[in-house]
Amino acid sequence: MALVLGIESSCDETAAALVDSDRRIVAQRIASQDAEHAPYGGVVPEIAARAHAERLAPMIAGVLEDAGVTLADCDAIAATAGPGLIGGVMVGLVSAKALAMASDTPLIAINHLEGHALSPRLADETIAFPYALLLVSGGHCQILRVDGVGQYRRLATTIDDALGEAFDKTAKILGLGFPGGPAVERIAREGDVKAVPLPRPMVGSGEPHFSFAGLKSAVLRAHETGAHKVADIAASFQQAAIDCVVDRLQVALAEMDDVDTLVVAGGVAANASVRAALEKVAADNGMRFAAPPPKLCTDNAAMIAWAGIERLGQSDPLDISARPRWPLDPEAEPVRGAGVKA
Ligand code: KG4
Ligand code: ZN
Repeated sequence: MALVLGIESSCDETAAALVDSDRRIVAQRIASQDAEHAPYGGVVPEIAARAHAERLAPMIAGVLEDAGVTLADCDAIAATAGPGLIGGVMVGLVSAKALAMASDTPLIAINHLEGHALSPRLADETIAFPYALLLVSGGHCQILRVDGVGQYRRLATTIDDALGEAFDKTAKILGLGFPGGPAVERIAREGDVKAVPLPRPMVGSGEPHFSFAGLKSAVLRAHETGAHKVADIAASFQQAAIDCVVDRLQVALAEMDDVDTLVVAGGVAANASVRAALEKVAADNGMRFAAPPPKLCTDNAAMIAWAGIERLGQSDPLDISARPRWPLDPEAEPVRGAGVKA
């Protein structure tokens, strides 16, 4: 049996975990930086990098201690090498390099998006390739066909904001604090999804791409009228966003008719209403639906360690670079529109 140490530091979660090839999360620790970033209403890269630098080394020591193992027991050290906030990525990657060098253990540089993309396979051994993947996080909003480890075809991306970003901006407009996604979901439970008329950008378009900037602006205008309850705006926003996702997915799935499993991953996959809507899309298309448990949807190191297990045998050079951008499908055509994300 193989054991991999995973390190994650690409955004505002400092995390370390040990995962074995039997899909057991042997130990894991995670420290969120919500308190540090909350006063600014969003993640401040410099503060994030400093917090990672302070917390990561003792956290790795703690995880090894929790599991009662040493680096000598690890078959590889897997660390997020991008995409993400570059200061944080560098802290995690350089730490992993130092540990790999000191213990003569292979280093595996992991694409954070691949960590999300493969996370359903950590949670459930029956998820086999190929599968259709909706990847919805704070920085990314994509539909991909996953044919194997490292084999991704991007069918859709966002032309402006990511879905998680739309939740975060909505929360900010509505004064719900940071992080926004869980706060919007919580208050939306008390609201009426039909109370506030909001647009469904891109719905009906023949290409499966996303756009959420217009929806966010409509939320701002609705809030500024003073005519609506915050819970109603939150519920109507969440429903509008879900309607967009469902419509876009239908278009993309039509291009993947040989695929029988629909998987969702990334922070927004923790949202119960999103999960329920996707479960229905899968059922309507005669597909199986899988979503990792919410704790594996938001950023964590277990998914990075698991990607390391999936890539065992790979050994990256100690001079490998941290990458702020690192698309899963480098061949994907750029999409018309401003602010296209990798
Ligand atoms: O995957 P993740 O932890 O970090 C990135 O790689 O971006 O995703 C974070 C995003 C944030 O935008 C957060 O607001 C959103 O996921 N999120 C949610 C929920 N939990 C996290 N969005 C909606 N509902 C949730 N319950
Ligand atoms: Zn993430």
